[in-house]
Amino acid sequence: MKNKWIIIPASMLLLTGCAQEQNNTTEPEQSNEQTNEQTETATNEFGQSESGTTESSNQEETLTPEEQKHAALIEALPEDASSTDWNLILVNRENPLPEGYETNLVEVEPQKEIDERIVEPFQNWVAAAKEAGHQLYFASGYRSVERQQNNYDRSVNNYMKEGYSEAEAIEKTEEYIAVPRSSEHHTGLAIDVVDQEWIASGKGLIPEYDTQPSQHWLEETMADYGFILRYPEGTSDLTGINYESWHFRYVGKENAQYIVEQGLVLEQYIELLKERETSTQE
Ligand code: DAL
Ligand code: ZN
Repeated sequence: MKNKWIIIPASMLLLTGCAQEQNNTTEPEQSNEQTNEQTETATNEFGQSESGTTESSNQEETLTPEEQKHAALIEALPEDASSTDWNLILVNRENPLPEGYETNLVEVEPQKEIDERIVEPFQNWVAAAKEAGHQLYFASGYRSVERQQNNYDRSVNNYMKEGYSEAEAIEKTEEYIAVPRSSEHHTGLAIDVVDQEWIASGKGLIPEYDTQPSQHWLEETMADYGFILRYPEGTSDLTGINYESWHFRYVGKENAQYIVEQGLVLEQYIELLKERETSTQE
């Protein structure tokens, strides 16, 4: 088994590095620079011409600290988690909603639906928030592709009315609004949550919601209820979406606890699981 950690794809080395950066206020541009540097280092260290260490008899000693951290990340993955689990479905620009994806929706508030499998954890979380003195406002759950298209088109039109070119309007829209079919709101596993006071003040869904005690409480407790903050600050180079302090995604408690403890985003977590699955098939 130990030998496997020698053959870490360079792309996976990005995971460890980015995980460490995630909770900083690092701008995406800076993150890019850092990850590129790490790729270069990895390539050099693994290049056959450079060291030829992949055939070394004492391979463990040749692991860099980054590689050791990566190996430890894989070692610590939840034992039963699989990249094909229903609660780990990845929907983003590169992974649009699969054709024929079906979900049973439950209306938890008027015109607000979520996947029936997350009703209990969601309601328990909302009840716990109330207990802690936070009156949450559930802004959005499931969205059809048509609804997402309407939101998307409206945003593009609004930016164009403000004087942006169509290309600029599309670029600005896609910072926060996923391309239709690429929104995880289509799964019913994503929720947008702020608090009643914040919404009443007219501020809406903006990153600055993270100045509020209720948002801090949500982040502190989310993993206990199986949720993660899906688009953390400084991770847009990995997720494709800017920081959203209000958008939470259900992944299940064990997955959420690992993701939060390790400071990962869902894309990274799924890559780690896939790497483990590939290595155990060999
Ligand atoms: N705001 C998130 C990215 C969505 O549109 O799904
Ligand atoms: Zn959302």
